[in-house]
Amino acid sequence: MNSIRRVLTGIKPTGTPHIGNYVGAIRPAIAASRQPGVESFYFLADWHALVGSTDPARVQRSTLEIAATWLALGLDPDKVLFYRQSDIPEIPELTWLLTCVTAKGLLNRAHAYKAAVDANVAAGEDPDAGITAGLYMYPVLMAADILMFNAHVVPVGRDQVQHIEIARDLAARFNHLYGCEYFTLPEAQIDQFTAVLPGLDGRKMSKSYNNVIPLWDEPRALRKQILGIVTNSLTPGEPKNADDSHLFTIYQAFASAEETASMRRAYADGIAWGEAKEALAARIDAELAAPRERYHALMKDPAKIEEILAAGAVRARAQSVPFLRELRHATGLRALTHVSDAQEKQRRKVVASGLRLAPMRNLDGSWGFRIDGFASVKVHLFSDGFPDLQAARAAGERVLSTAPANLEFSYGPGNQVSVSSAGLVAAVARGVSRDEEASAVAEIKRGLLDYQQINA
Ligand code: TRP
Repeated sequence: MNSIRRVLTGIKPTGTPHIGNYVGAIRPAIAASRQPGVESFYFLADWHALVGSTDPARVQRSTLEIAATWLALGLDPDKVLFYRQSDIPEIPELTWLLTCVTAKGLLNRAHAYKAAVDANVAAGEDPDAGITAGLYMYPVLMAADILMFNAHVVPVGRDQVQHIEIARDLAARFNHLYGCEYFTLPEAQIDQFTAVLPGLDGRKMSKSYNNVIPLWDEPRALRKQILGIVTNSLTPGEPKNADDSHLFTIYQAFASAEETASMRRAYADGIAWGEAKEALAARIDAELAAPRERYHALMKDPAKIEEILAAGAVRARAQSVPFLRELRHATGLRALTHVSDAQEKQRRKVVASGLRLAPMRNLDGSWGFRIDGFASVKVHLFSDGFPDLQAARAAGERVLSTAPANLEFSYGPGNQVSVSSAGLVAAVARGVSRDEEASAVAEIKRGLLDYQQINA
């Protein structure tokens, strides 16, 4: 089994990006997408942008700006699946499937909704005044984004962690209710560096403080902003403490280790604030000048961005369309001619014998199965990968119905007992010590015999 990790994150297209967004989110995400062994899904969360915005021109403009920003900064759409959420109709379909297994109380406790209710109550208003069902449903839509592509890891800011927990919750609930591990349970990844870049006034750089340095300002405007950064009143020649200076913190976010060390010395040697600011402006410009040109070129060519996003949507839908087909089938939205009785009965019998066949998604996206329900907690059978759910299920059923005498058992590396049936599949019980091997094998044989008797 190969171990490609699927990393997914949504970018809400609102507002104009600033250098705090660049340093804290965009740059690390693009760097992460170049790591080997990851499959990255980065998308423009424009369905989410409609929550709280009814200005169509603004939604369109922001989508264009944010797409151009990520591409200009080096996101490689051949390597990353880069798409627009609203180009994937399976996402709202999955949102409804998840909505139907979502406890309303869970959404009542979501931070953003609760904060809005608290504000209304504090203002003496009706608790739900001005709150749309869109805001309320936001976490379910976000869960659909994540679960649609079975992401393992979701890099987000701290404020989004609860949303990932909700996605895990819904995934587990759906898997449980429909008796199959359709969804991978995602983990939040909080980037350490998503640490905060200070703004012009030294507080966190944020639109709400109106202290941001826009990412795509022209060099003159950029320089002017930086000259306006608040510093203390130490005069040229007086030693300055770099660790006390947010000017230095911003410099450090752009400079190499050597540049940072030499700037630290310049502070100690009493560099004038004016000079330190010029150095910062020059350093930022050195990093952003080339991307800025690419950005302007892309902004003038929206058709090119459309083309890139459309190609991303084709690749994303190659996964979402067949997966949603399986999910519809699982929930009973399926051809009326489909005969499921035998299969259903089979499943109930499996439950009676204590053994359970659970098809599951492997790390590499292939399908496998797990057989558990053996008396010892150590014994679970995990299979190799199959191209689709049906193949995995069929292989699992064949193992269950093979007479134990026709199975081959072997003990291998990683404390694994492998089971194979006519070369069909290598299943293993993991974490079994050499001492326990014989009893594990006996237990598997006994479990399968029970299963077969009940199903005879
Ligand atoms: N809610 C996220 C934010 O405001 C954006 C987002 C939407 C997202 N869907 C997602 C992030 C899925 C991660 C995964 O930043």
